[in-house]
Amino acid sequence: MSIWRKKTIRQLMSEAEDSEKSLKRTLTAWSLIALGVGAIIGAGLFVRTAAAAANSAGPSVTIGFIVAAVGCAFAGLSYAELSSTIPVSGSAYTYTYATMGELLAWIIGWDLMLEYAVGAATVGIAWSEYLNNLLVEVLHVSPIPYQLSHSPFQTSPDGIQGIINIPALTIVTLISLLLIKGIQESAFVNGIIVILKVAIVLMIIVFGWQFINPINHEVYIPEATKYIDDQGISHHFGGWQGILGAAGTVFFAFIGFDAVSTAAQETINPKKDLPFGILGSLAVTTVLYILFAHVLTGVATVEDFRTGGKEASVAFAINKYMTGFSWLGDFVTVAILAGFSSVILVMLLGQSRVFYSMGKDGLLPKVFSELHPKYRTPYKANLIILVLVGLFAAFIPGDIVGDMTSIGTLFAFILVSASVIVLRKTEPNLVRKFKSPMVPLVPILGILVCLAMIYGLGWTNWLRLIVWMILGIIIYFSYSRKHSNLNKEN
Ligand code: ALA
Repeated sequence: MSIWRKKTIRQLMSEAEDSEKSLKRTLTAWSLIALGVGAIIGAGLFVRTAAAAANSAGPSVTIGFIVAAVGCAFAGLSYAELSSTIPVSGSAYTYTYATMGELLAWIIGWDLMLEYAVGAATVGIAWSEYLNNLLVEVLHVSPIPYQLSHSPFQTSPDGIQGIINIPALTIVTLISLLLIKGIQESAFVNGIIVILKVAIVLMIIVFGWQFINPINHEVYIPEATKYIDDQGISHHFGGWQGILGAAGTVFFAFIGFDAVSTAAQETINPKKDLPFGILGSLAVTTVLYILFAHVLTGVATVEDFRTGGKEASVAFAINKYMTGFSWLGDFVTVAILAGFSSVILVMLLGQSRVFYSMGKDGLLPKVFSELHPKYRTPYKANLIILVLVGLFAAFIPGDIVGDMTSIGTLFAFILVSASVIVLRKTEPNLVRKFKSPMVPLVPILGILVCLAMIYGLGWTNWLRLIVWMILGIIIYFSYSRKHSNLNKEN
């Protein structure tokens, strides 16, 4: 019963063929880019950018974006190689199972919950912020009371304590139900939202440029100091450590391009379309993000993002500083609510596919891989995920789940990069439709840049990751190891 036992690539391929009978293949290269961009532009840009400027880097958050993009590009090449070689549902989890054995596969599957499930909760919380902005700024009615739209760990400037975040819980529930009905309809709605999202980002860049106040950019990289936020957490602000911290935080904004690879089983021509989908969506968003962050930190001040503009920061900056553009603030608010919904959709989709694969392999109970008789979606997995994501969305603050998502995903990227090196050695003759250039240099650089961002996220986040992993390892040794399909074959 070795914890290093592996699935063979042949096993994976024949499972993929079997699954022709189960999951439907409906996605093309362009729908993958749409799926990717749909997943990518979201709370990372519209909420975490301002948080990174406030807590870590001021205007040099743009440099943080560059660091994060470099890390993603290296890891993206590894993702593309693996997903074009092993076009099977389940993303990094599946690749690791074939390359580094069952224990590491379990670890990564467990870790991906941070990326997808906790990530979906983060965006749900961002949705809640912008919903209140919609009620107050656009519809001019009362907001949902602070207690009912914030976690119990948050307190408002006037001393009101949160109880539960009901809007976040509601949006997560609605989207889970949509996913149960099926991916084809979801991909269509997603396509429309993607266009809307790119449009508002472009408008903010173009219209906002003239409102950049040079004073706000005068000290582009603030001097290194400490900043203690309103929850009492201390951050390195300014200097290179501030930039790395910001990179770790805004790394969230890139999460999702890898979700494309989790849809491998639903892709018509995975070997060609997956690398195109993954790298294409990364390239488009990187350029937009750097320009957007430059404009946002030029329009409003760091102090704004620490106080009145801490929530729904982009709408706040437009309404406060961009005179004559309140219509843009309204439009952004409405569009981003739709935009966040598409991100939640892709993340929940990714999570259910990972659980589906783990259920099929016996590492999780079989209910995770049961398909709905009519919709052919893993509906029971969707419902269990709903409970999990709902708990995070309702009761944990956005800053905490956001950085937990970042650190979990960075860890996954490290394992994926390592898998490429291992697989080139153990399976040199495997047909690779897409080959990452300069292996092992590219994966090694990917690992180093991701490690630097993990360092930047600070010890509270390292601790959270370690606790989460210990929990996962306990479950592996008490349940999954015994129930694994590979166990039965031995
Ligand atoms: N990249 C996604 C977002 O920023 C997760 O919302």
